[in-house]
Amino acid sequence: MKHPIHPMLVHFPIATWFLATLADLASLFTNEQVGWVAGVLLVIGTITALLAMITGLVELGKIDAQSPAMKIANQHMVLIMTSWSFYAASLFMRLNGTVLEQPGTLAVILSVAGFIFLCSAGWMGGKLVYQYGVGIQPSQQEHSK
Ligand code: HEM
Repeated sequence: MKHPIHPMLVHFPIATWFLATLADLASLFTNEQVGWVAGVLLVIGTITALLAMITGLVELGKIDAQSPAMKIANQHMVLIMTSWSFYAASLFMRLNGTVLEQPGTLAVILSVAGFIFLCSAGWMGGKLVYQYGVGIQPSQQEHSK
């Protein structure tokens, strides 16, 4: 592979988690179907995020341990794992066996928290690529501050 596969996969969890949080908020004011849609989106986001994490770990392994980009990459990883944990907890709170139920207030709060961490992690991911050149030009990683 001449370029990382990670950026290709991150769109799935970002899009589905974002829409899930929107649907969760909407479910507080509308009917049960919106809450169910949010649950389905959370299932997709939580699973596709695992695939994005695997490819992210592959890219992490290519960063020089001494480079300043490594610190940002670790922050990106911790933030996204926190986001994943919030979304997964929100999902489990609305599961009754395998049946998705209407999200309660706590499940919606967890979903919003997951989204806040997702945005922070995305910011760090962008920093890695556009400021430190990770995944673009190996030489830039060593020279960026
Ligand atoms: C173990 C977890 C993860 C690690 C170690 C990791 C690592 C990285 C690395 C090294 C980069 C820069 C190089 C590249 O773009 O391939 C990056 C970029 C990025 N990551 Fe992750 N990542 C992880 C999980 C995720 C997940 C689950 C998401 C989304 C839900 C995500 C979203 C992003 C975004 C948006 C970028 C910027 C891509 C771009 O602008 O081209 N990452 N990540």
